[in-house]
Amino acid sequence: MARVFSGIQPSGILTLGNYLGALKHFVVSQSEHEAFFCIVDLHALTLPQDPLELKQQIRTLAALYLAAGIDPQKATLFVQSQVSAHSELAWLLQCISYIGELGRMTQFKEKSEDRETVPVGLFTYPVLMAADILLYDTNIVPVGEDQKQHVELCRDIAMRFNQRFGSVFVVPEARIPKVGARIMSLDDPTKKMSKSNPSPASYISLLDDEAVIRKKIMRAVTDLGREIVYDEANKPGVSNLLVINSLCSGRSIPELESLFIGKGYGDLKKDTADAAVSVLGPIKRRAERALAGSEIDEVLAAGATRAREAAQPTLLRVQQALGVR
Ligand code: AMP
Ligand code: TRP
Repeated sequence: MARVFSGIQPSGILTLGNYLGALKHFVVSQSEHEAFFCIVDLHALTLPQDPLELKQQIRTLAALYLAAGIDPQKATLFVQSQVSAHSELAWLLQCISYIGELGRMTQFKEKSEDRETVPVGLFTYPVLMAADILLYDTNIVPVGEDQKQHVELCRDIAMRFNQRFGSVFVVPEARIPKVGARIMSLDDPTKKMSKSNPSPASYISLLDDEAVIRKKIMRAVTDLGREIVYDEANKPGVSNLLVINSLCSGRSIPELESLFIGKGYGDLKKDTADAAVSVLGPIKRRAERALAGSEIDEVLAAGATRAREAAQPTLLRVQQALGVR
């Protein structure tokens, strides 16, 4: 059975982009493969976090994983910092990674831009991500478009290691959805929807109230003209709404295009808001229930145990290959 691994940072409440580009696909994959899903808190530390808030966000992210449909009977859900092999392997991999290749990562360039000081962890972030993936002999990494370059780097590191030290790592592959791999901001459809955007109007949070979701979608920036057609280059706003609508309602984009012939942007927005609310309403309710109970803590404790058992043999293999054990 193929292994699946993916992670999400607990650095803010998940957005509709995280759900449609990643989490939704995690849920499907858990029934087909042996799956590990991680709350990558060590990655969140690469930028300043308030400790109490971070702790809360780890729990909230766990609740959202469960609410979205991750089933702890099928998949292993755990917190990265609870499995020390991640940090240990990251160090070993840093020693065979190059400053040049890390400096080419577009996410590093974007995140370090305009910062007075740049933490070293932000630079080596993709090596920790490679460790996450390689520890579990992962075959498939479901991620959104923005993580493709990081998974490519992980593959490079794995192949380099195997070439030098023998066949130790499974070389993984990114799996990026054909539609929805890059959900755009509602207030600027040329930018990715992101939970770290300071403007809440730009994203829909998975914990937004129905009224807020409707308001944000009704105010989404649309394009010149009035035709409702999918055209990313000339109609980025309308195209983004069509993608969101399609993924939330299960109707194809051509189906939606014909449905909206002769109708206006207002109609598209209202229909898209209905579709989003129908998906997010139940997720929010389930997440709130999970947050109020104690299931999360039990799930994460059991998940950490299972993850440690899976990760330890890989770490040992690497240490032995390198001559340090
Ligand atoms: P992050 O929030 O950066 O931890 O991302 C978690 C997952 O969500 C990754 O697989 C990302 O590629 C994916 N993701 C983040 N933002 C978007 C977006 N706007 N559209 C689609 N996928 C996204
Ligand atoms: N870097 C990823 C992101 O920001 C999160 C992540 C960390 C991840 N480790 C991973 C994703 C391993 C997939 C596999 O979205």
